[in-house]
Amino acid sequence: MLQILPVTPELQLSRNALLQRALRSESPQTYSIEAEYPLVLPLDKSEYSFCGILPDSPRQVLVHANFLPRTLDTQIGPIQVGFIGNVATDETVRGQGWMRHLFSFLANHARNHDMAALILWSDLPLFYHKLGYTPFGSERRFQYRLEAPAQWNGEIIVEETPNAAVFAQLDTLRPAVPLTYQRTQAEWGQLLLIPDSILLLAISAGEIEGFCILGKGYDMIGVVHEWGARQPAILEKLLQHILAKTGWQKLTLLVPPKLDTKWEQWLDGQEYSLHPVGLMQALTPQAKILETAFFWGMDGI
Ligand SMILES: CC(C)(COP(=O)(O)OP(=O)(O)OC[C@H]1O[C@@H](n2cnc3c(N)ncnc32)[C@H](O)[C@@H]1OP(=O)(O)O)[C@@H](O)C(=O)NCCC(=O)NCCS
Repeated sequence: MLQILPVTPELQLSRNALLQRALRSESPQTYSIEAEYPLVLPLDKSEYSFCGILPDSPRQVLVHANFLPRTLDTQIGPIQVGFIGNVATDETVRGQGWMRHLFSFLANHARNHDMAALILWSDLPLFYHKLGYTPFGSERRFQYRLEAPAQWNGEIIVEETPNAAVFAQLDTLRPAVPLTYQRTQAEWGQLLLIPDSILLLAISAGEIEGFCILGKGYDMIGVVHEWGARQPAILEKLLQHILAKTGWQKLTLLVPPKLDTKWEQWLDGQEYSLHPVGLMQALTPQAKILETAFFWGMDGI
């Protein structure tokens, strides 16, 4: 019978190999999957990594999922949720109900910790629908292409060593959304070390006037998934800088479902598609509030 336990030092190699095979084999990267998930895959975060093993092969991880508890500040007070990710079953035992078993373990774990919902991000909605997950919230994905040059004269730099003062500014520049996760400064620092993430700053008279983050490991290639600026022309300059440096014709800009007038006017008429924010399993009636949630690109697991 499948036994579920947090990852141990003995299981870590097998867990990493399973994730690499299941989630990255189709397009191998120059970095390991552990580097992409600093909040949940390091050994000192073992409580967030649940492995399923069989007693007769105790060193082989057959199923795995990360489970990261998060507190969200909402209009109805703080609610606890669990973010799930890095979901994988070994090829040799797929289709035998092992992942359903692990998910039912995680739902019980979440209920025991008074959580309102479990949340995940995936391109496999049919599979997760079978496990009780439904789409929630909405986000817009704009296709940004160069039209006219941006009317802003500051400088764009790549920031490779941001510090706490920079993170505090990024928090204030991001457009306000009704419900999101408030990241700590330590998390900002860890997340920006994810390979293939680039932080660009728009600077004028020594002040940060805008920023954007392009990419995040394998998950967000060609996507600007976090951004903020004092005015649209500054964001436009940042995006045009990326297009000029990469030679791309277009990039994807992740946008909350509704912004204030100055942003809506700038976005008006541009091509976009509407998507759910993610998938969730509601565990209590409080989970309804997640319909208003928006998560920036680095706030998965
Ligand atoms: C997707 C994956 C985790 C499923 O694991 P599994 O252990 O085979 O799943 P289970 O056997 O517990 O299946 C549970 C149910 O989902 C169904 N299912 C399994 N894979 C499915 C898929 N890709 N699409 C739709 N339904 C699927 C099963 O038929 C089963 O339904 P049933 O109970 O009605 O018969 C596994 O195929 C895998 O590791 N794939 C590669 C990695 C991946 O895609 N991970 C998810 C990234 S978000």
